[in-house]
Amino acid sequence: MGTALVTGATSGIGEEFCWQLAAAHHDVVVVARRKDKLEELAEQLHQIAGIRVEVLVADLSVAEDVERVAARLRQDEAPIGLLVNNAGFALGKAFVDNSLEAEENALDVMVRAPMALSYAAARAMRARGRGAICNLSSVASETGAGTYSAHKAWIRAFSEGLSEELRGSGVTVTAVCPGPVHTNFFEAAGVDMSAAPQWLWASPEQVVSEALDAVRRGQVLVTPRPVYKVAMGAMRVSPRWLTRRVMRSIPHM
Ligand SMILES: NC(=O)c1ccc[n+]([C@@H]2O[C@H](COP(=O)([O-])OP(=O)(O)OC[C@H]3O[C@@H](n4cnc5c(N)ncnc54)[C@H](OP(=O)(O)O)[C@@H]3O)[C@@H](O)[C@H]2O)c1
Repeated sequence: MGTALVTGATSGIGEEFCWQLAAAHHDVVVVARRKDKLEELAEQLHQIAGIRVEVLVADLSVAEDVERVAARLRQDEAPIGLLVNNAGFALGKAFVDNSLEAEENALDVMVRAPMALSYAAARAMRARGRGAICNLSSVASETGAGTYSAHKAWIRAFSEGLSEELRGSGVTVTAVCPGPVHTNFFEAAGVDMSAAPQWLWASPEQVVSEALDAVRRGQVLVTPRPVYKVAMGAMRVSPRWLTRRVMRSIPHM
């Protein structure tokens, strides 16, 4: 896979991608908004794992910043072999109670940016005859619960379509669909998950380990942990009204 570029590297799942990729001796390009956190992570990855780390400070809701990241993906020197579109967040509010600005910001970070970065990566990787794109979707892609679910459904459908377009090119696309993961994700959005039992939760280590195994196999869809593989399967065969009814008791994402 060579050098990997990971968005949302300053926390949670993205940070864990960096550590597991570093342990497998991949150099990484780390992307997020918080410069201090990125530089601290880069220093630790270099000191502990001995890899080369590039820091790219970018707000993925800003078109010019997305274009700078896309330019790095197009670069032939130290080419990117794996793009991880991971940056994202919960909105924590019902659509009609949120500001349209906040909704558009979420769409930019979780849909527009992954689309633009996948475009740059897919074209550069196809020309080189190898590469992989890994996109963070969610179990929420099946639940129909608000715009967060819609963004993650877009990511999953987009990843499936792109994987077919790129079939035979040496470039693979993987969409990862985790259930709840112990990160800063819920707290940042003020979503109270205290009622969720411990067995529902995954660690970032579990999620990233299953995701990277899937990427290495060229697998298109991966749902980490057996309980969520079953839940995703059940939602696919259940009537949609049943899924909607169950979702009434789940807090807004
Ligand atoms: N945690 C879960 O339960 C769960 C479940 C399923 C799917 N996911 C998905 O997994 C991905 C990672 O989530 P996480 O749980 O690791 O959350 P997290 O710990 O809150 O990390 C989110 C990351 O996204 C970055 N980010 C947010 N807004 C950004 C922006 N405008 N520009 C650039 N970077 C931005 C943050 O960095 P800065 O603040 O430094 O910019 C941070 O590194 C997300 O796509 C999420 O939807 C999470």
